[in-house]
Amino acid sequence: MGQEPAKSEARLATASIVDTLAVFAEVAIPTLSKGVIIRRPKMVSVAEAVGLDSRAVQRLQQLWAKYGSGPLLLPIPGRKQAVILSPEHVQRVLAGTPRPFTPATKEKSSVLGHFEPNVSLISKPPKRSDRRRFNGMVLEEGCPVHSQADAFLRVVKEEAEVLLARSGEELNWDKFTVAWHKVIRRVVLGDSARDDHELTEMLAKLRAVSNWGFLHPKRAKLAKQFHDRLNQYLSRAETGSLAGRIAALPKTDETSPSHQVAHYLFAFDPGGMATFRTLALLATHPDERARAREEIDAAGETVRKDLPFVRACFLESLRLWPTTPAIFRETTEDVEWDGGTMPKNTHILIFAPFFHRDDEYLDYAHRLNPDLWLQGMPGNGWPLVPFSGGPGICPARDFVPMMGSAMIAEILGTKELSLEQPRLSPEEPLPGTLDNYTLRFRVGPRAS
Ligand code: HEM
Repeated sequence: MGQEPAKSEARLATASIVDTLAVFAEVAIPTLSKGVIIRRPKMVSVAEAVGLDSRAVQRLQQLWAKYGSGPLLLPIPGRKQAVILSPEHVQRVLAGTPRPFTPATKEKSSVLGHFEPNVSLISKPPKRSDRRRFNGMVLEEGCPVHSQADAFLRVVKEEAEVLLARSGEELNWDKFTVAWHKVIRRVVLGDSARDDHELTEMLAKLRAVSNWGFLHPKRAKLAKQFHDRLNQYLSRAETGSLAGRIAALPKTDETSPSHQVAHYLFAFDPGGMATFRTLALLATHPDERARAREEIDAAGETVRKDLPFVRACFLESLRLWPTTPAIFRETTEDVEWDGGTMPKNTHILIFAPFFHRDDEYLDYAHRLNPDLWLQGMPGNGWPLVPFSGGPGICPARDFVPMMGSAMIAEILGTKELSLEQPRLSPEEPLPGTLDNYTLRFRVGPRAS
């Protein structure tokens, strides 16, 4: 029999009540108020106006200076809570998924349980491995170019053309998001879902309720209608869509394809935000725009599925403004650290912007630096984790940048964009929050 690891007598550093309240006020509440499952545009606008995301990073920098490398326990009645403050600990927690650090935390399960209770992310082993493997196969994780890329890029091209024709001289979020959702529905479910706005609306209602977790009763009837509709599309298995691919893949009784697909539809939404923010970066950074255009033009229309520089810009938008800023885990057993024991059932927060924007360590913290993502090891061990990491890493980490960069190529390849609102410049630090809902571009023909 293996020996139990000796429990350390030492106690992990514990924040004072005042510091704990400050983490709540400046990190947790702003993150939750913006909406974890569906964004609340008004709160995103407030966050941009008063610099809430930058303040959250500064608060964690202060905690690091005061308490050291952590993990730091926060004394909260009724819930053991810890915050990760050092890069090595981020790597350890993410590598230790799903045991001893499960992604299926109580909070996440209550939130996602509203509309996708069987999604891999909140499934416990062994069901988790079955569902995770399935998602990896559907999305072809680890492959920069999906085997159905030609079909998907055709969809992007068609919808981008409609978008640009209808946008006239102004491109804003409302116009962009309509086109992006058409792309999502066609790529995930098939062309017959193109105009099924009702499906997206049903999901939006379920996501709005799920933002409240266990504080809001479930809308079971709506969730059933939503999954019935998804299953109809899945049974059609249209060629050239992920639904077509799913039909051909092995499944078990536990796979629950419609729950995984609900997550695809939901998670594509932040992909649109990142795409739109990347357009804002490229519209305001002439050197990077020129490099992106050079790559797009050289690739021509047929090979736009692999655009490493444009993808790097997309990844930079996610580093600067991560759409999943808070990565949560929960300990499934007592865990030993140098500083002491972290008890079982401790809820752990990794706040990605603290690492992505740590200007005490990264000289590029607040500026656009796409070359970072063209290196063999982006960050050289520093946690740049817009897609998380370890065995719980996003299985769409290649697929989403491929789709986003294809959309960017269609727009930037043919049009000149100038950002009207807000002001961004290579000469100034980029803001901690970029409200995608209020971005507005003036559109003109591309200068020769
Ligand atoms: C900008 C877009 C996206 C970002 C930044 C992103 C980021 C993430 C992150 C950080 C996680 C881990 C969450 C956690 O540990 O709690 C995750 C998980 C996941 N993502 Fe994404 N994601 C994106 C888009 C997508 C899309 C479009 C899909 C599907 C088409 C997808 C499928 C998944 C799945 C299935 C998981 C669960 C993985 C597991 O169970 O281990 N994501 N994503």
